[in-house]
Amino acid sequence: MRSLLFVPADSTRKIEKALACGADVIIFDLEDSVAAAAKPAARELLRETLQGLADRSQAEMPRLYVRVNALDTGLTAADLECLRGLRVDGIMLPKAEGAGCVRRLSAMIGGVEPSDHRGATRIIVVATETAKAIFGLPSYASAGPRLAALTWGAEDLRADIGARDNRSPDGRHTEPFRLARSLCLFAAVAAGVEPIDTVFPNFRDEAGFKQECDEALRDGFTGKMAIHPDQVPIINEMFSPSPQAVARAQAIVDAFAAAGDAGVIGLNGEMLDRPHLLHAQRLLARAGR
Ligand code: COA
Ligand code: MG
Repeated sequence: MRSLLFVPADSTRKIEKALACGADVIIFDLEDSVAAAAKPAARELLRETLQGLADRSQAEMPRLYVRVNALDTGLTAADLECLRGLRVDGIMLPKAEGAGCVRRLSAMIGGVEPSDHRGATRIIVVATETAKAIFGLPSYASAGPRLAALTWGAEDLRADIGARDNRSPDGRHTEPFRLARSLCLFAAVAAGVEPIDTVFPNFRDEAGFKQECDEALRDGFTGKMAIHPDQVPIINEMFSPSPQAVARAQAIVDAFAAAGDAGVIGLNGEMLDRPHLLHAQRLLARAGR
């Protein structure tokens, strides 16, 4: 999952565009981008859309996720009910505050999942949207097999803590939000699931977006969420390991293999030990090697 594009579930036009833009994952949103009064119609449109897509082969389709409303809104059950008997790849849970929320959602999903898809619906959690959520991050290691990824959000966290802003004038996240981002990354890796970077709302700022993608990659995020189709090809390109990076990783793996069970080797004048080997193996796995 490199690119995960949000599409408001009440917009036929945007849904069509989203399906055609090359995103690895489409997240049909029933939460913040759909007004309260529009949610029932959005659920109906989503159900029709998913029924219409059911015949398409998996190969030509992005993965399909649905962002439901948070567990404390009283809306989650109705959101899931509109999916009854339909196959989706996963559910995104906003404003989650720890593994207990994943277990609650998991039980609810089990009640609507089709019988030939039992246990196969995954969960992506937005794990930093309240101050309390930050302290639930370590718990995701015991969240169970549905958990596929953790991502983080700065907009709701800003509202929760009453911060005036979450970015400084140069566009970079300020300290409390960078901490949430780092902790989300560590929690995802510790839980053995994918760390996905948050959205970049200023969709006309291509340079700023590329810089944020580059920082996410540098730090270990494996994908990034998008809010606009123009962001998708940029994410796909930047989060695909380059041929040079793949070749270098392969050379490292080969050099270790040739060296028997050596703990440390020299390659092209550089010392390489176990962390370098693990990094190279992980990169090759991401590249599908
Ligand atoms: N998915 C699919 N299509 C999208 C899209 C998205 N997320 N965002 C924009 N588009 C479409 C527009 O409908 C438009 O299509 P059209 O030319 O056929 O009308 C085209 O892409 C260009 O859009 P643009 O004019 O640049 O932007 P906009 O002003 O129409 O939309 C937003 C701006 C922010 C409202 C829109 O990008 C959006 O709804 N994003 C998703 C918001 C969301 O889901 N938020 C929740 C998670 S934070
Ligand atoms: Mg939100």
